[in-house]
Amino acid sequence: MSHTSFTAAGPDEFRMGMRRLAAAVNVISTESDGELYGMLATAVCSVSAEPPTLLVCVNKSASACGPIAESKRFCVNVLSEKQQDLANQFLNVESTRRLDLCNWTRLATGAPAIEGSLVSFDCEVDQVIMSGTHAIFIGRVVVASLPEAASPLLYFDGAYSGMSAVA
Ligand SMILES: Cc1cc2nc3c(=O)[nH]c(=O)nc-3n(C[C@H](O)[C@H](O)[C@H](O)COP(=O)(O)O)c2cc1C
Repeated sequence: MSHTSFTAAGPDEFRMGMRRLAAAVNVISTESDGELYGMLATAVCSVSAEPPTLLVCVNKSASACGPIAESKRFCVNVLSEKQQDLANQFLNVESTRRLDLCNWTRLATGAPAIEGSLVSFDCEVDQVIMSGTHAIFIGRVVVASLPEAASPLLYFDGAYSGMSAVA
């Protein structure tokens, strides 16, 4: 069995390793100064259930980063596999036009919740931690909107993927 290990991990080795970490695909959305923003993100993680809290890691260079910090609100929309086309379209459209690609509604904070998502977590920013190139937004979940269950859209080895049951 071939085995590659790196005694010192640089950015390239780190990226190669992270390609093997399958992750759910999410759209982080917000509204700031009357403008809507959306971006794809896999760096989303549960923090605690009591109180309901999650975190998202957003590159400081992403167009949505400043608006999330300023508006102090964001929505994490967990995509279903039926939303793969939407994810692809996001790459070709500037961030302030991406919400035009989908139907959305407002929950409590005013950040757009995308219809057809597996779940939308509407969050108020509780803390921001700067780490290298990224801002880690810790969000207090105000509303968790759970429409009908569906299969998730996953990202693995640089490509979209679906989930198959393991016997
Ligand atoms: C599948 C996928 C996952 C991504 N995950 C993240 C992420 O977790 N955090 C992040 O800052 N950017 C992530 N990106 C990059 C952003 O979605 C976005 O393309 C990039 O920040 C460019 O910013 P823009 O919104 O200003 O065009 C991801 C991109 C893709 C395609």
